[in-house]
Amino acid sequence: MMPMTSIGNEAVNPLKIVVLNPKGGSGKTTIATNLAAYFAQAGHRTVLLDFDSQGSSTRWLSKRPEERPAIHGVAMYESHAGVTRSFATRVPADTQMVIVDTPAALAKYDFVDMTRGADKILMPVLPSDIDIHAATRCIADLLLIAKIPRNENRLAIVANRVKRNTIVFRSLMRFLDSLDIPVAAVLRDSQNYIRASERGLGVHELVKSQAKPELEHWQSLVAWLLEPSRRDVPDELFSLVGAPSDANEPAAASHPTDPATEPSRF
Ligand SMILES: Nc1ncnc2c1ncn2[C@@H]1O[C@H](COP(=O)(O)OP(=O)(O)OP(=O)(O)O)[C@@H](O)[C@H]1O
Ligand SMILES: [Mg+2]
Repeated sequence: MMPMTSIGNEAVNPLKIVVLNPKGGSGKTTIATNLAAYFAQAGHRTVLLDFDSQGSSTRWLSKRPEERPAIHGVAMYESHAGVTRSFATRVPADTQMVIVDTPAALAKYDFVDMTRGADKILMPVLPSDIDIHAATRCIADLLLIAKIPRNENRLAIVANRVKRNTIVFRSLMRFLDSLDIPVAAVLRDSQNYIRASERGLGVHELVKSQAKPELEHWQSLVAWLLEPSRRDVPDELFSLVGAPSDANEPAAASHPTDPATEPSRF
């Protein structure tokens, strides 16, 4: 069990969000780090648990500028004490959000440990035949081995690195339609993710005019994450459905526009 914490006067458990897909490079770290930055900027005490021995989330956090809202990072891969035990003891007691980044090539029997106590599980899927095929396997393992029931509203897909008007994007959306699992967001392929990641930021922390489409996608994702699942989401967290705050950075000269990703809307 997660340690109890409080928001206002009410004692609640932190909201635990797990980002999982054994397929390498599908966007787990990108989504986990952006979520952590989003919730931290919205004023919530956020913990980012990095289970990947590559340490990508941990490296992202080490680049995060000091003036940005703090995120408490834990390099879980350094611990060999077992996922569940070490998890509970390494999350500060006043934590409100726990974001879990998981490794590639996760064995299906590790799904059980990784998803235990998760309020929401996000599975990023890229628009490619190989990724679509791998996603079918991963969903089956989540449903059958980790026993995540479809009807608890805990599992959703994030279509990632999407290029609109491509055949493979249409195949991905057809495949996702057939699954009967919600698609919480469709994230476009954008250099904004790479720029933000290099600087320890979330895309919403880039200058607003530069990342407007990303902001809209993330609001859709956060709205799904805050939909009630097996337990009620505390009222206080619903303030997150809006943008955490206006992005407030001046545009940097080293951030060219991204013509490859226009038009920007889906
Ligand atoms: N929407 C996006 N647009 C552009 N680049 C992206 C997007 N999402 C992810 N990337 C880039 O794709 C690469 C892989 O993403 P990421 O590291 O998040 O995947 P991962 O699933 O964590 O990989 P691994 O399985 O190795 O841990 C990174 O270079 C990342 O910056
Ligand atoms: Mg990763």
